[in-house]
Amino acid sequence: MDIISLKNASSHAGKAIKIAGWVFNFRSSGSIYFLQIRDGSGYIQAIVSKDVVSSKIWDLCAKITQETSVILEGEITKHPKKEEYELQVKELEIVQVAEEYPISKKEHGPDFLLDNRHLWLRSKKQWAIQKVRNTVINGIYEFLNNDGFNKIDSPILTPNACEGTTTLFELEYFDLGKAYLSQSGQLYLEAAIYSLGKVFDFGPVFRAEKSKTRRHLTEFWMMDAEMAFYDHEMNMKMQEELIYSIIQKVLKECIQELEILERDIEPLKKIKLPFTRLTHNEAVKKLQKLGSDIKDNEDLGGDDETLLTKDSDSPVFVDKWPAEIKSFYMKRDESDKLALCDDLIAPEGFGEIIGGSQREDDYNTLEKRIKEHKLPAKDFEWYLDLRKYGSVPHSGFGIGLERLVGWMCGTKHIRETIPFPRLITRLKP
Ligand code: 4AD
Ligand code: MG
Repeated sequence: MDIISLKNASSHAGKAIKIAGWVFNFRSSGSIYFLQIRDGSGYIQAIVSKDVVSSKIWDLCAKITQETSVILEGEITKHPKKEEYELQVKELEIVQVAEEYPISKKEHGPDFLLDNRHLWLRSKKQWAIQKVRNTVINGIYEFLNNDGFNKIDSPILTPNACEGTTTLFELEYFDLGKAYLSQSGQLYLEAAIYSLGKVFDFGPVFRAEKSKTRRHLTEFWMMDAEMAFYDHEMNMKMQEELIYSIIQKVLKECIQELEILERDIEPLKKIKLPFTRLTHNEAVKKLQKLGSDIKDNEDLGGDDETLLTKDSDSPVFVDKWPAEIKSFYMKRDESDKLALCDDLIAPEGFGEIIGGSQREDDYNTLEKRIKEHKLPAKDFEWYLDLRKYGSVPHSGFGIGLERLVGWMCGTKHIRETIPFPRLITRLKP
């Protein structure tokens, strides 16, 4: 008999089948054991009745503990009242009786759960978050592949900084001096557009950021996209269409997971295209009116991001920032004071999920910016070189996967959205 996946249990109703998984909860009522089983794909209640199974199997049931691994055979039946399916057990095999499991049904503190992350991952909510994460990843790939993008794998070990020198993880690289862990693959994607037009990468990036907020990790996953012949407006349109398509996919494919997470899906359903657009100046004025003490040329703090979207169903683009507080590679508008960049702020307090911009494509201007930012000219020679051979207007953006997944799941702290979070105070497990 083949083993079925629990996510397909309903299609086997009335049939004899086999399942393999773990008992995450159980109770007995004298002559019946109710075993809650999960197999990675889904959940089911298995019912073992004393008068149906052999006495050998009945005695085995007494050995079952939380997380005991089992293989069960029986018939799938529909619950008499609910839209649920159950397994009427005929055969039961224990693969391993689990030792006393440290995570019980009672409340545990976040530190205890994070110390036991290798086990905590099995909990229902953590399962649901990883399913949503997988759907979001697939959604990004699907959208970009359909739109003619080519995946380019950028390097992780790099000689130069992409997002400023204050958050670099540094290491000694043989006889070649210092190397850094990549903060974003963007600069390499800019090279690749001259070969492939529209490209993206998707991988781990690193920021030695001293922030201890619920939105910061030291290792997280970023999807960078880069497009030749795209200006700032086209860049934002691409971003909102991608995000919108992911929301629709999650709403379509992850309803069970969002229910487990008790995520109110109404705010997600209300989101429409196009997203709201505010310039940085308009955003600051609005925030000041709402009581923020933000100054005219300042970055938005976490609280500002939450405040800014308070009355908005849709995500908000904040664009055209004062160039002096943004990255060296960003192209400026006619005033030469504002960067043609955008941050996309998610509603409901989930903060910045995308950073993007049009890139400076003129050799002399970019050379000047590299000097102004006191970046080591030698390490940026290759990047400048791209402005010599058929340079074109181009734009791109980076999505922080954990922030996007956190928003979809309604998870306030993004450390739960990555399997093994790396924080400044945590490197284990
Ligand atoms: O805004 P950032 O720094 O932009 C870049 O790195 C660009 N080079 C991307 C590009 O244009 N290709 O980072 C992009 C996104 C942020 O909007 C945020 O969602 C996420 O990455 N992010 C973080 N996520 C978790 N922990 C951190 N410490 C993060 N820093 C940025
Ligand atoms: Mg940013």
